[in-house]
Amino acid sequence: VTSSTAAAGAASHRLVERFRSARRDQRLAVLEGFHALKHALRFGAELEQVAGTDPAELERLAAALAPDLAGRFDALVEVVEAETFAAFGPQVPRTGVMAIARRPQLDVEAVLARAEQRPIVYLEDTRNPFNIGACIRVAAGAEAAAVLTTSMHDPWHPDALRGAAGLHFALPVARVEQLPPSDRPLLALAPEGEPLDPARLPARAVLAFGTERDGLGDALLEAADARIALPMRAGVSSLNLATSVAAALYAWRLAAEARAGASS
Ligand SMILES: C[S@@+](CC[C@H](N)C(=O)[O-])C[C@H]1O[C@@H](n2cnc3c(N)ncnc32)[C@H](O)[C@@H]1O
Repeated sequence: VTSSTAAAGAASHRLVERFRSARRDQRLAVLEGFHALKHALRFGAELEQVAGTDPAELERLAAALAPDLAGRFDALVEVVEAETFAAFGPQVPRTGVMAIARRPQLDVEAVLARAEQRPIVYLEDTRNPFNIGACIRVAAGAEAAAVLTTSMHDPWHPDALRGAAGLHFALPVARVEQLPPSDRPLLALAPEGEPLDPARLPARAVLAFGTERDGLGDALLEAADARIALPMRAGVSSLNLATSVAAALYAWRLAAEARAGASS
């Protein structure tokens, strides 16, 4: 073994260790794949490390899917052998790129206190990290003010980041022990609530969603200012968590856009 081969082996080993330990580091986010990296770049993530097997392929993907980022990948990506890349995590993305970013610092109470006329999504005790990711993705798309969760899962876990296609950098996302008090109306989304009227959804509401199996807990249902339901066909018990977040947020957004269009 020549000294240069040994040095390359040691560098690969260090990189593998860096990706593996980043998965357990509460200050960092591991981004898996082109789409997560694309959104992280667009929404200003601070990247500590980007590594991949084929920057030319990333440039081809950028040209086809994200022309705003074309030309960025050659300089950004540290090229690694496929074998090294495969060791970065339990499941590596087919697009051949992974990154480590810093999580933004977040003051949850300050986020709740903001005057902006946009709702916050609160996910009580969500069980599935991919569901958390899907909720974050639609919250980013609809321009919600934040996603907070009491889930046992870290909403910045790589699986949630994959489910959100890296859109965590587009809005504040945090795990909380419980929902902090605020001056925002608290609306419980529950199939047995009053039918939702999009025109009457308060813009600064905290919209609370329950667990995949059991729904919202009694304490939240009792604390809520109102319980509202997305109408469903008779015989359907409930919607999937992330689809109900999508339906509620887009009901708010489309009604707000209709009001803005009517007054302009
Ligand atoms: C899969 S559902 C949970 C179903 C649970 N058995 C229940 O009755 O609430 C997960 C969450 O999605 C939201 N959800 C699902 N369908 C809904 C509907 N039709 N109206 C309002 N919220 C709904 C609720 O917040 C619910 O806690």
